[in-house]
This record gives sequence, structure tokens and C-alpha cells, in this order.
Amino acid sequence: MSVNYDLLGRQLDSLLSSEPDLLANSANFVGLLFAEIPNINWLGLYIVRKNDLVLGPYNGLPACVRIPIGRGVCGTSASDARTLRVANVDEFSGHISCDPASKSEIVVPLIIDGTVIAVLDIDSPTYDRFSGKDQEGIEKLCRIFVARLSALGATHKNFI
Ligand code: SME
Repeated sequence: MSVNYDLLGRQLDSLLSSEPDLLANSANFVGLLFAEIPNINWLGLYIVRKNDLVLGPYNGLPACVRIPIGRGVCGTSASDARTLRVANVDEFSGHISCDPASKSEIVVPLIIDGTVIAVLDIDSPTYDRFSGKDQEGIEKLCRIFVARLSALGATHKNFI
């Protein structure tokens, strides 16, 4: 089942438009995406705190709390400031396994003022779950989220 990312983007923008609280908006961002993207078992934010990524709002089983930047899929996405789409997590050297059910994943960096301030991590129990179209759509959702948070005063020094 494919996702209508344009429609989801409009729903996201509308959901975030009436609330000024950054944490509440972050929680609803992950809640909406987890509800609307099929065949996933974990979706959440890891926030940059000094040299680590620290667990933020998410949906799914309890997960690793702290990931050094540069480690695992999330830490590599943050250090390289680029999306990583991993078809088989067992083939990604250094993958950090929080839930053995996860077989593939996509990690998108969130960037404000040219600085990575967090990553969005989405895991699936199916190998090769995320297509190029999913990547495009999810990156667009992340841009909408970042634009809303920036408009509310979030900066690279002061994110949730
Ligand atoms: N898969 C991540 C770790 C986070 S959990 O999947 C929630 C990684 O290797 O960076």
C-alpha cells in the first residue's frame, strides 16, 4: 500500500499550525507519521545533544536512548547530513539493533541553519520496505516539520 505523501503533508501542516509548543508538535509529528505509514514497527526522533543523539518522541517499543554521532545508521546519517535508506539492516556495518524485528530502515536528518539538529528514524519488519518515492515523501514531511518548528523559534542551538 503506497502513501499519498502530498495529502499527508497537508494534514501534517494543518496539525502543526495551531499549536506553538515545540514538544507537542514533535510528538504529533511522530504520532501522525506512525499512524499513516504502513508496515513499520518504530518511528521516532533522535535529538542532537553535544556528541550524541538522544531519544526523543517516538512510537514503538522502548529503544536505545543514546547513540554517538557517527555510530549506527542514525549516527552516520547525522554525521554525513544525508538520508540513509538501508534495505537490510544486517548488511549495514555498525547497525545498532534495538528491536530484532526491524529488517530495513530509513533515517532522514533534520537540518536548521545548515546544522543537523535531529534525525527521523523509521524501522520496518520487512526487508527493503522504503523506496525512492518513500524517501522523497518522507524528506518532504521532514521539511514541513522543520519549517513549522523554525517559524515557532526553533534554532540549531535551541531545538526541543
Ligand atoms: N537503527 C538505529 C538505532 C535506533 S533503533 O532502530 C530505534 C541505528 O542503527 O542507528
